[in-house]
Amino acid sequence: MVRPYKWLAEFYDQLVTFHLSWYQAGRQKILGKILPNVESACDLACGTGTTTVLLAKEGMQMFGVDLSPAMCKIARAKTRGLRPVPQIIRADMRDFRLPQTVDLVLCEFDSLNHVPEKSDLALVAGAVHRALRPGGYFYFDVNNRSAFEKIWPGTWWSEKPEVAFVMHGGYDRERDRGWTQVEWFLREGRLWRRRKERVEQVCWSAAEVRRTLKDAGFDQIRAWDAKPFFTTDPNISPGCRTFYLARKTRRAMSSE
Ligand SMILES: C[S@@+](CC[C@H](N)C(=O)[O-])C[C@H]1O[C@@H](n2cnc3c(N)ncnc32)[C@H](O)[C@@H]1O
Repeated sequence: MVRPYKWLAEFYDQLVTFHLSWYQAGRQKILGKILPNVESACDLACGTGTTTVLLAKEGMQMFGVDLSPAMCKIARAKTRGLRPVPQIIRADMRDFRLPQTVDLVLCEFDSLNHVPEKSDLALVAGAVHRALRPGGYFYFDVNNRSAFEKIWPGTWWSEKPEVAFVMHGGYDRERDRGWTQVEWFLREGRLWRRRKERVEQVCWSAAEVRRTLKDAGFDQIRAWDAKPFFTTDPNISPGCRTFYLARKTRRAMSSE
């Protein structure tokens, strides 16, 4: 079952900003030469639309796709008034459709790991392939098994005057999934209301990712370890997270 973000959506931009410079560094290194030629792009699992806004401000025709109605609502508010106007579409990354093909699909901050089943990677790859023009690029990063084993069993705490959360998680070896339980404390006058939210992620080996992309019709598949971009993250070690860039093959696929 897919559980869209609810509380995480509401407080995302207050509490989850530590990753922005890491993703800026990733885009610069991996997409630096590609971005100047990108006219249209889709920010897949766009969350609150931070990357959508950034790229729209560089003149790209942007589409943002996210499953969470709360995330989409915030992203729409943030993109209002930008030109060209980004279009925020509430959809599942496994079967989303855009009104036009685009030059680039980005799926950042391990959003791809959020699909419920391992086999869903092929569905996402197929939907992204359909969304891209021939020669267009798919750029994403994933958490690897070593991230679930080494980092996810930790406990994290963050607080602001009106909200606090504690996250604790782990790796379920039998189901090959990482999980995080988020305990929210929301100030209501002099009281704090407690809410819970659970996020689960699936993982794939590099070989599985490459095979799935190739089968979906991608070539020029390249990978970068995330460690050099995550300069201020003390927890990450080489092998925990990988960035991928794949090109939709220019040959016509028989399924199209
Ligand atoms: C970790 S957040 C990343 C958001 C944003 N890309 C960023 O970099 O901050 C993961 C996002 O994936 C979205 N998501 C989870 N499952 C999804 C699905 N099946 N289809 C589309 N979006 C999904 C969530 O709603 C959430 O906004």
